[in-house]
Amino acid sequence: MDLDLRSSVPVDLQADLLAIGVLAADPVALPPALVAALGPGLADTLSAEKFKGKAESIFTIRPLGRVPARRLLLVGLGEASTEQLRGSAGAVGVTARKMGAERVGLDFAAAGLDIAGSAALVEGFAAGNYKFDRYKEESKRKAECSELVLAGPAAAQPAVEQAAQVARAQCLARDLVNEPADAIYPETLAAFAASLSSDTMQVKIWDHERIQEEGMGGLYAVGRGSSRPPRLVHMHYQPEGEARASVALVGKGVTFDSGGMSLKTSESMKTMRCDMAGSATVIGVLRAADQLGLPIELHGVVGAAENMNAADSYKLGDILEMYDGTTVEVHNTDAEGRLVLADCLVYASQLEVDYCLDLATLTGACVVALGSRYTGLFTEDDELAEQLLAAAEAAGDGLWRLPLDQHFKDLLKAEWADTNHVGPRWGGASTAAAFLSRFVDGPRWAHLDIAGPAFLDKTERYYVKGGTGAMLRALVHWLRELGA
Ligand code: BES
Ligand code: ZN
Ligand code: ZN
Repeated sequence: MDLDLRSSVPVDLQADLLAIGVLAADPVALPPALVAALGPGLADTLSAEKFKGKAESIFTIRPLGRVPARRLLLVGLGEASTEQLRGSAGAVGVTARKMGAERVGLDFAAAGLDIAGSAALVEGFAAGNYKFDRYKEESKRKAECSELVLAGPAAAQPAVEQAAQVARAQCLARDLVNEPADAIYPETLAAFAASLSSDTMQVKIWDHERIQEEGMGGLYAVGRGSSRPPRLVHMHYQPEGEARASVALVGKGVTFDSGGMSLKTSESMKTMRCDMAGSATVIGVLRAADQLGLPIELHGVVGAAENMNAADSYKLGDILEMYDGTTVEVHNTDAEGRLVLADCLVYASQLEVDYCLDLATLTGACVVALGSRYTGLFTEDDELAEQLLAAAEAAGDGLWRLPLDQHFKDLLKAEWADTNHVGPRWGGASTAAAFLSRFVDGPRWAHLDIAGPAFLDKTERYYVKGGTGAMLRALVHWLRELGA
């Protein structure tokens, strides 16, 4: 999608869709050129139809040849906060997607856009415009938006271009999640990561034999029951100039989670191709960092495995030896993510980075607690928590801190091995985090449980159902702040 940033978008723009933003404070204050083109009755119509300029609300006007655009929308901007601008542009992106608009004009100048606001427009529009229809019949597929003409200050040019890069990385993460497990499995996920190699990004892959030799007993066990063996992926981005900090991002890459011997029901299994969403976000963030040239040394560590129920699957009561030598008693093969992550966290700790964050669709308990809007944040590092919460807020990702302390660590005492990997029924998101904490040695660490927002069963705001790329924008924002 090309971006064309202008001081204003003319009402006679030749476009498939022209969207004009209006503030809640004054929903009938319309650009004079628009009033001139449409006639003076418009303000009365808006009042009669009770269009109040609420954020993300849309009022469709029939152009009837009075403007060249195929469709004309008024879009409520609310009070024009950054998140409202993002959401309102998202609503336009959704409309553009549904009508297959190729050229779109977006004039939210009424909001008096600053640089952050202009960037948020691009992010929101791109998120709303996203679709995954490559498996549909050609004739049923809508055209892609190829050009977005938007109004904004000239000084926002670099920021809107960067926002488009981040948006592309988010779409890439969403595609990876939406692809069926028969297309994205450990080998192909690793190959995709490798395809992102560049002068500044190196990608290293361990196959199942190497994983076993190295002693990654968790990743190996989880992947054992599948005819598609596991992979460890290590992406390493080294900026051209001096790095201001070093960070490892660890992603759960369970390309399909059947539950293994602790088999899931069909209902809870049917979307479990989403169980690699943590790794999709990690791969997307590395791509964005490389494209933006962020001054941070960044590692992406992905544990990719398919959790299947087969003759060679790992079993309940098995005792696994992890990468750091810790022995773990298996009580439920559906709690596989933490076994995969544990080995990856030991690996990431050895990289001697300043920070380590892991992302995972880890627990149903987190979905019960927080629903589909919020990612669960677990860390004992208050300062890091504040940084991440602020970044998520700025980027429009929902993030909410949940407890992690000794109480939950004590719930993992084992009978036969060093630790259990599951605790009692209640507080399951926190006991999962407590298990992970054992395997981090050195870096400042936080765990992000994206099980709720990573994959939507129904369309919400500017996210069509399916993969969302949850936390990608937040992490890019956080990395930028770290490098500032
Ligand atoms: N992949 C699931 C968690 C999940 C649930 C992700 C819903 C996305 C949406 C994970 O591997 C899992 O099954 N966890 C179990 C853990 C339990 C057995 C301790 C769960 O949450 O039920
Ligand atoms: Zn599971
Ligand atoms: Zn899982």
